Amino acid sequence: MTELNPLKVVVFGLGYLGATHAACMAELGHEVLGIEVDQLRREKIADGHLPFYEPGLSELLRKHLASGTLRVSDSYAEAAEWGEVFFIAVGTPQKKGESRADLQYVDSVVEQIVPLMNRDAIILGKSTVPVGTCRRLTDRIDQLANDGVHVELAWNPEFLREGHAISDTLRPDRLVLGCDPGGRAEKVTYQVYSRIIDEGVPFLVMDTASAEIVKAAANSFLATKISFINAVAEVCEASGADIKQVADAIGYDDRIGSKFLNAGLGFGGGCLPKDIRAFQARAGELGASSAVGLLREVDFINMNRRTRMVEIARRACDGNLLGKRVAVLGASFKPESDDVRDSPALNVAGQMQLQGASVVVYDPEAIDNSAKVFPTLDYAPTAQEACAGADLVMVLTEWKEFSRLNPTQLGSEVRKKAVVDGRMCLDRRAWELAGWNYLC
Ligand SMILES: NC(=O)c1ccc[n+]([C@@H]2O[C@H](COP(=O)([O-])OP(=O)(O)OC[C@H]3O[C@@H](n4cnc5c(N)ncnc54)[C@H](O)[C@@H]3O)[C@@H](O)[C@H]2O)c1
Repeated sequence: MTELNPLKVVVFGLGYLGATHAACMAELGHEVLGIEVDQLRREKIADGHLPFYEPGLSELLRKHLASGTLRVSDSYAEAAEWGEVFFIAVGTPQKKGESRADLQYVDSVVEQIVPLMNRDAIILGKSTVPVGTCRRLTDRIDQLANDGVHVELAWNPEFLREGHAISDTLRPDRLVLGCDPGGRAEKVTYQVYSRIIDEGVPFLVMDTASAEIVKAAANSFLATKISFINAVAEVCEASGADIKQVADAIGYDDRIGSKFLNAGLGFGGGCLPKDIRAFQARAGELGASSAVGLLREVDFINMNRRTRMVEIARRACDGNLLGKRVAVLGASFKPESDDVRDSPALNVAGQMQLQGASVVVYDPEAIDNSAKVFPTLDYAPTAQEACAGADLVMVLTEWKEFSRLNPTQLGSEVRKKAVVDGRMCLDRRAWELAGWNYLC
């Protein structure tokens, strides 16, 4: 067992990734300073309030804020003076009007922190970046670093899932590090994660380009799996086969596995869509055309699911959404999250409203975020209130609360018993027995 040697860890960016990482680094026994530029977000986090929903994270933050092992600031000077290991956890959104990733936030961290560093340091990138970024920034760091100061950059991509962020950080499937041979990054990263590596988490060390591609390839594979099963679902629908039975049966094969084989409304969120587009764009720049073609199709199939869902809704409303009242259950891009970035559920709700439906949305956690993005939709505080007088109920995010709904009780709230199960998470038989027209 390696003896724990607490480090002074700085985390730049306290969003979903950074706030989780900062709290988990403190949980692993390190001293942590979180640097956040957004004043409101910074103040909330410093008070122990998360600006987003992630199970268990507020409690973990509060525990380490109270003990003083975790602090929050906006001062790069303080970070440079105090820190030993610096994690970059800022956003890498899709560039406006392009498929590529916008790296301005990652670049800005490097531009600001490196000139302030007066002793050797290790910077570990966690943000998802296109292959070649670490090499480019290493060259830039060599230009920015003060004389006699060696700043080493390595990449340690993050694989956490929102809704499972703490367990994915403290018990990940694997840790990946991309670094140059002969530097200190491997030893220091080992020290950062020694507790979980000792517990058996595989620690995979490789060159920086490979580490960057591991993250992009992992997300692209997951997206491909979802679009694959949705493509098969179209064949099932056209032939009268049952996609649920098909997916269950092929999932028994170890080589395939049953996860990510749920046909439905497809993927969204702040990661998969922008990550497959960024990977596609980078593959194109590198002349790797097979990856470009494959990922374009994966993206196309996925976006098509949203249009298809609206068609199913229109069919359920006798061919016309105009004047119909539709209850949309679920707004976050997935359950156990309040993240509505590129949410398929909200996208469908918006399309139906454009076709004349009066749409009322309910979500257990994501109503505030949804109202900011789609202020013209109506929102209800409970599923029952959203469904009152509805001509159609649509379940578009698979929160457990929805699979537990009582179809008999809900049947007395609606005007017409028609339900679209966009995530195939309802008990079809129970809903049909309660007199509902069930569509999926
Ligand atoms: N959210 C996830 O589930 C997840 C999982 C794995 C990887 N990632 C990757 O992690 C990165 C961050 O994602 P996120 O979802 O946490 O993003 P986010 O937008 O929620 O958070 C980014 C934070 O960085 C802050 N920031 C921006 N510039 C800054 C700067 N110069 N200094 C300090 N703070 C700054 C922003 O104010 C914001 O609070 C992305 O590359 C993403 O692809 C995210």
